[in-house]
Amino acid sequence: MAEYLTKSAARNIFYGGTIFFLVLFTILTLHSHYYIQNVSTDASTLTESVARGKHVWERNSCINCHTLLGEGAYFAPELGNVWVRYGGRESAEGARMGLKAWMRAQPTGVPGRRQMPQFNLTEQELDDLIDFLEWTSRIDTLGWPPNDAG
Ligand code: HEC
Repeated sequence: MAEYLTKSAARNIFYGGTIFFLVLFTILTLHSHYYIQNVSTDASTLTESVARGKHVWERNSCINCHTLLGEGAYFAPELGNVWVRYGGRESAEGARMGLKAWMRAQPTGVPGRRQMPQFNLTEQELDDLIDFLEWTSRIDTLGWPPNDAG
């Protein structure tokens, strides 16, 4: 080995590699920051209630059972597209009513089905949460998940 790789060649590979990847890292960071973020985050509809809804989501640790765009636990259904699953694209009001009814009806107590706890959310919290789920459903995920079931 020693006769092929001199000390200065090894040093050049080290510095060259470091600089190369540093430049690449910087370019990708700028790309995420100025390009990806602008096309995939729908900032224009990011309202106060969407932000509050995210806090409802976090305070109640929904992610301990559910996934949101694939992140989270696999005990319960994916919720990134639950608004679409509840027919939000056809009727936003219908989806809102359906989701509220679901949240209020838990736990169902149906034998053999996994159960979801009752969170006793207020009307305001439910509205905010649903605004958040609606907003999430519009994130451009390049077609993921591939079907409505999530
Ligand atoms: C302890 C686990 C658990 C937690 C925590 C939990 N869920 Fe669930 N959730 C479930 C299970 C299990 C189901 C599926 C039940 C069924 O199909 O009968 C479900 C289903 C749902 C559905 C219906 C999904 C569909 O496709 O029909 C919605 C909406 C939902 N959960 C919202 C929430 C929200 C919002 C939170 C946080 C406030 C939350 N869940 C927290 C277990 C949980």
